Amino acid sequence: MLRDKYCAEVSEKDIGQDLTIAGWANKWRDHGGVIFIDLRDRSGIVQVIFNPENNQEIHKIAHKIRSEYVLQIKGEVRKRPAGTENLSIPSGQVEIIAKELRILNDCKPLPFMVEDDTDASESLRYKHRYLDLRRPVIQRNLIIRHKATKSIREFLDSQGFLEIETPVLTKSTPEGARDYLVPSRTNPGHFFALPQSPQIFKQILMVSGLDKYYQIVRCFRDEDLRADRQPEFTQVDMEMSFINREDIITVIEGMIKKVFIETVGVELQTPFQMLTYHEAMERFGCDKPDLRFSLELKNVSDIVKDTSFKVFFDTLSKGGIVKGINAKGLAGYSRKELEDLTKEVQGYGAKGLAWIKVKNGFESPIAKFFPEQSLKSIAERLQAEEGDLLLFVADREKVANDCLSRLRNELGKRLGLIKEGAYAFVWVTDFPLFEWNEDEKRFEAMHHPFTSPREEDMEKFLSVDPVGAIHESPLQYLRAQAYDIVLNGCEIGGGSIRIYKKEVQDRMFQLLNITKEDANTKFGFLLEALEYGAPPHGGIALGLDRLVMIISGAQSIRDVIAFPKTQKAICPLSNAPSTVDPKQLKELSIKLDIVE
Ligand code: AMO
Ligand code: AMP
Repeated sequence: MLRDKYCAEVSEKDIGQDLTIAGWANKWRDHGGVIFIDLRDRSGIVQVIFNPENNQEIHKIAHKIRSEYVLQIKGEVRKRPAGTENLSIPSGQVEIIAKELRILNDCKPLPFMVEDDTDASESLRYKHRYLDLRRPVIQRNLIIRHKATKSIREFLDSQGFLEIETPVLTKSTPEGARDYLVPSRTNPGHFFALPQSPQIFKQILMVSGLDKYYQIVRCFRDEDLRADRQPEFTQVDMEMSFINREDIITVIEGMIKKVFIETVGVELQTPFQMLTYHEAMERFGCDKPDLRFSLELKNVSDIVKDTSFKVFFDTLSKGGIVKGINAKGLAGYSRKELEDLTKEVQGYGAKGLAWIKVKNGFESPIAKFFPEQSLKSIAERLQAEEGDLLLFVADREKVANDCLSRLRNELGKRLGLIKEGAYAFVWVTDFPLFEWNEDEKRFEAMHHPFTSPREEDMEKFLSVDPVGAIHESPLQYLRAQAYDIVLNGCEIGGGSIRIYKKEVQDRMFQLLNITKEDANTKFGFLLEALEYGAPPHGGIALGLDRLVMIISGAQSIRDVIAFPKTQKAICPLSNAPSTVDPKQLKELSIKLDIVE
């Protein structure tokens, strides 16, 4: 070994001994002839001192050291002089008086400093990701990720799960995002799709009797990227046979509990809260509510239904709703602040934002449209007190909910309601089976088409006449045995109890207007498998990147992935994707005709 121990492991126990350490020159300071270097490795840093009075020769060499030079140093560990200790680092009680120094490698001038707080752009950081990954904050995230996957494997092994790999070169899966395609050389004109998830294969493993499957697996989706979305991301993917929803919930809660203890030492309370989809939408306006704070939305349509305020009246007469939220204590907001807030909510898609200040009565440009009693009822429903600001959106239910739930998150931040270090888990259950796709004017499976209707909806599912006006279609009332797990307002996982009978699956495709031929081309191998004794089964997939992001307090999943892609889905480090040699295209029987 080129060293005796890691930098941050040097401690008071080593005082008086000679130790060899190795790492990168983190900070370099010359204090009147005495050179101080913070030597850094994965564990942290230790301070090294080069004093010309002790050793002139190596002091001279030390002068050549610059940031990120790679050094091997031998020296005596001593207690730092009183008053110079650094309590913020583990090795802060000691320092090393250098006796030997080898510069193992030098380093070009840096494009940005290797430190936690950096204002370097993302593209610069990712181009030099090897430097970016030296930043302690990112190393800590990757260590947490390692610990999380280790706990997950241990836990699932202890519960009898088998880790089984599924193909990466495969066929389109049913998650509904755009596929990444890979051309087949041996079958000209044919393409593999990279899996959006191992959904079909894990169901087939259940038909095969493997009973409990899991995999920590890369999934690929060509979709618009956000802070919590990457084109390739990792799922903790699971499937179990002869189980119900509660069994899956128990496994996941046990697993997450262990992960939190073993990564950040946090003891979680189980069972986690549960909300039906319907309740989540009513109270929070979305299916992934941040339950670190309450601040619920209230429907006031019934109170304002007879109003002469045109905006509310017109919305209600077209079947829309009026819903509001209490911005606690913000009655002091100025016109300008209210205008800015209105613009923000309009940015979410609302047409406007109506407000009432509870301030010596009711102060509002719309107060005149309501009798005093209605204003009082509104205030009561929103549990308003003197000094509160009540905000309302009138629109189609979906739009009003969406805008207010985003406003709710914004208010949570502004009002300081989100406790640092709080973890609020919630299971959202009983999702609708179908959702209406406005662009394509058709119903689609809200989770995926292998998700089973709830037992109590099965008869209707098998018998309803699906034809009918869009928003009156009975399909919208059917619920699925689908569940999501949400942490601090982020969907960290989703799954369902599956359809395991061929005729139910056929019916599902029929209701989705997928022809037999289409279903067979896409998913025929699963459909056939269902005819050979498929057991009842179900499963879930957790987004590992999202879970680790929240555990480590990162702002983006990119900070918990060693080599992430940028917003434009490129890798500035490797320059992927790139053009290819025409010879390669020829081998693939592909001719390019790029449409701008
Ligand atoms: P679903 O599509 O809900 O379900 O995905 C499961 C979880 O994966 C995470 N996730 C993502 N994370 C980062 N970047 C992305 N682009 C991305 N897309 C999804 C989310 C999500 O909750 N086969 C089903 C699971 C099942 O039914 O068992 C599936 O893939 O945290
Ligand atoms: P207007 O009649 O357009 O001047 O709007 C009067 C007030 O109602 C303004 O504060 C608008 O922001 C607000 N408003 C307009 N449309 C809506 C809406 N759909 N929901 C809630 N408030 C609205």
